[in-house]
Amino acid sequence: MAWGKLWTFCGVAVLLVPLAVADTPANCTYADMLGTWVFSVSQGGNDKTLDCTDPGPATNNITVQFSHFSTATVMSSGGYTFDVNGYWTLIYNQGFEFRVLNRKFFAFFKWTGEGKNATSMCNEIMPGWSHDVLGKDWACFQGMRIKPEQKPRQPTPAVYHSEAKERRLQQNYKTNLDFIDQINGAQSSWQAGVYPEYEKFTHEDLIRRAGGKKSRLPHRPRPAPVTEETRLAAAQLPESFDWRKVMGLNFVSPVRNQEQCGSCYSFASMGMLEARLRVLTNNTQQVVLSPQEVVSCGKYSQGCEGGFPYLIAGKYAEDFGVVLEDCYPYEGKDSSCKDTSKCRRGYATNYRYVGGFYGGCNEELMQLELVKNGPMAVAFEVYDDFLHYKGGIYEHTGLRDPFNPFEITNHAVLLVGYGRDLETGAKFWTVKNSWGESWGEEGFFRIRRGMDECAIESIAVAADPIPLMS
Ligand SMILES: *[C@@H]1O[C@H](CO)[C@@H](O)[C@H](O)[C@H]1NC(C)=O
Ligand SMILES: *[C@@H]1O[C@H](CO)[C@@H](O)[C@H](O)[C@H]1NC(C)=O
Ligand SMILES: *[C@@H]1O[C@H](CO)[C@@H](O)[C@H](O)[C@H]1NC(C)=O
Ligand SMILES: *[C@@H]1O[C@H](CO)[C@@H](O)[C@H](O)[C@H]1NC(C)=O
Repeated sequence: MAWGKLWTFCGVAVLLVPLAVADTPANCTYADMLGTWVFSVSQGGNDKTLDCTDPGPATNNITVQFSHFSTATVMSSGGYTFDVNGYWTLIYNQGFEFRVLNRKFFAFFKWTGEGKNATSMCNEIMPGWSHDVLGKDWACFQGMRIKPEQKPRQPTPAVYHSEAKERRLQQNYKTNLDFIDQINGAQSSWQAGVYPEYEKFTHEDLIRRAGGKKSRLPHRPRPAPVTEETRLAAAQLPESFDWRKVMGLNFVSPVRNQEQCGSCYSFASMGMLEARLRVLTNNTQQVVLSPQEVVSCGKYSQGCEGGFPYLIAGKYAEDFGVVLEDCYPYEGKDSSCKDTSKCRRGYATNYRYVGGFYGGCNEELMQLELVKNGPMAVAFEVYDDFLHYKGGIYEHTGLRDPFNPFEITNHAVLLVGYGRDLETGAKFWTVKNSWGESWGEEGFFRIRRGMDECAIESIAVAADPIPLMS
């Protein structure tokens, strides 16, 4: 329901038919952001539920220049108190956030049209949300780039499948034993096996579970170079580490199952906040948080059609808070937002890309963040061989299943540890998935570390939960 939901939120009366689009159709890059933008900010107020469909007349115009790597420079600031330097980050291929003038600004890039007609326009935005750092004064804003750093791109139409391919994706998955044998014959690092439950899913369901069609990011950042300071700090870390057994204690909340909803981003986000609350309170706060409340009510994500941890564990948890599972149980489908006024809300702060901005991440920074602050949300590219993972240290074999159509996706999961295989010396990450406890190594998997395997070292996200008051 990506479109239905977003457009409903934006106040358009017609509820569009749900289309096979994950996330928003925006498909923009770091280079698209560079240059000078002008933003018109509407009248502010203390209502954070504000509807930004029609932001109203601008009361302030600000001009901001975005430059490498994450510097936002205010050129003119309308009525706001002037401070020149700020910060910006791209948010995947979807939007951007910048922090200047003691305010945060977030917007999705603009797109027009629906479904097959969708076009991504990277020099404009959909109306976005701005608030002061304390979250007291909220306003809507619009904006456009007035001076690109490089030649602007033409608007790009979304890429779509033929109808025959669409129909094929609606059929049920069928186990292909030959493919599994091939995987096991090609390598010995990990073992592939049969998951009979996949046969109850369509190909599309399996793709959605792994992050959703089109969740794949065409321009994933490469891991950032490691500074000398980081290298020295990382050299002091233990050889292996696992938040499930730190001096005999487990700080990781139980494995869950997202079913066929594309809500991995919400499970990874809740998993991080749950684990970090346990770490912060020495296991005295062992809550389970609600991924469904985000799926049904979240403004910064697209329900079962996808979303991103930076915007959920981070921005949504800071701006709106998250609720307990008991108060908003998981449904595994898109549904309208229920009244949550009786639910207690928990918040997070200091959300960030590991490395400081989108593109600043690497293995050593992830290890340091993990040991210091707790598990974090990571994303990686899922190929169809991964669906058959039963145990061992995963690395993509390059093999594809010729009979079951699958598309490479971007799947959000929770990093909980790292180590090294005692026999082979192979380095790995330990990661919590959201495909149930009987999947993989009791719901977890290990994946090769240090090589940016399936891009797992490129966009880790961290946030600090605020312990609940008793
Ligand atoms: C902001 O810019 C818009 C578009 O250029 C203009 O119409 C409006 O008068 C400006 N408002 C202020 C308060 O400067
Ligand atoms: C795309 O545009 C064409 C021509 O305007 C229209 O007939 C068609 O219904 C549109 N398709 C979608 C999915 O909106
Ligand atoms: C996004 O753009 C890239 C090229 O910049 C293209 O390869 C990719 O298919 C596009 N993705 C979508 C979903 O349109
Ligand atoms: C944390 O909890 C464990 C187990 O309950 C306890 O043994 C330990 O002393 C606690 N640590 C601190 C710093 O309170």
